[in-house]
Amino acid sequence: MVETIVWTNDGVVMIDQRLLPREETFFTARNYREMEYAIKEMVIRGAPALGVAGAMGVALGVQAGEDFDTVCNTLAASRPTAVNLSWGVQRMRALKAALGEVAREELVRRMIEEAQTTRSEDIAICEAIGKHGADLVVDGKTVLTHCNAGALATAGYGTALGVIRAAVSAGKKIDVFADETRPFLQGARLTAWELQQDGIPTTLITDNMAGHFLKSGRIGCVVVGADRIAANGDVANKIGTYGVAVLAKENGVPFYVAAPVSTFDLTIPDGSHIPIEQRPELEVTHVFSEQIAPTGIRIENPAFDVTPNKYVTAIICEHGVARAPYTESLKALAATKK
Ligand code: MRU
Repeated sequence: MVETIVWTNDGVVMIDQRLLPREETFFTARNYREMEYAIKEMVIRGAPALGVAGAMGVALGVQAGEDFDTVCNTLAASRPTAVNLSWGVQRMRALKAALGEVAREELVRRMIEEAQTTRSEDIAICEAIGKHGADLVVDGKTVLTHCNAGALATAGYGTALGVIRAAVSAGKKIDVFADETRPFLQGARLTAWELQQDGIPTTLITDNMAGHFLKSGRIGCVVVGADRIAANGDVANKIGTYGVAVLAKENGVPFYVAAPVSTFDLTIPDGSHIPIEQRPELEVTHVFSEQIAPTGIRIENPAFDVTPNKYVTAIICEHGVARAPYTESLKALAATKK
């Protein structure tokens, strides 16, 4: 399986997700400013992967002797919606505070170690999510997914795609419908590529086909990832997720969200408090540098939407499966010890 992000002696090496599936090129962030660039420009993306990138970015800054608070604040602000990014940075802040006054060499060593642990833990967490979610996947049916919540969006294995991988490993005969996910095309470029590499039967559909197939009776369930989940179970995920969730409910298809506890934001009561990132107009007016809309047309490009909890059948995390009322079930799962 592809290495999304690794710490090396030369810097943090990431597969450049802007270029997939045409090119498998790697981008190396040698300092925290290059990591900020990689996050903003979507060299690396996907909530859990951003958590690891945030932690590794802080380690780069500490290694170079940069001002700690500036590094942390810059990285945490580089993308606003996925709470995992500030979670990864906060983890490094907490370690620094716990270490107190230590020699510089020791601080650098511990920061690098912690950032690498964030990565290895994420893979184990995704595998646990997969195990909990595999039972929910209907044998012999199609799973529909939106965006990319796979190995590329995490340190490895994936959340929503982790559930699919685990269901396949458990012997379930399933296939996948991947929404292309306009405008950044994470479904077409990344999910389709990842699943094809694993030999999991996958069909690519455009976003506006989801309703048609959800009505057809072929889809056993929808599984998506998340960028931030509020205390009441409202879920922020890639733009278009809300529409899929409504269509799933209308057609009696279960809608599952797979995400680690680091995606829970129990400090906010509901989804209205989730900041929604606005991305550049160019992502809508152009497809691979080709202009597809008239010059000067007004553009909106929110990168995420919020699905109200009433459309969410269950939330799968590394500690188990949460169901409504989420205010209680999410709190209980978040408090589960590792
Ligand atoms: O803008 P992106 O590509 O970072 O958005 C990614 C998503 O919305 C994913 O579905 C989400 O982060 C979950 S990834 C396991």
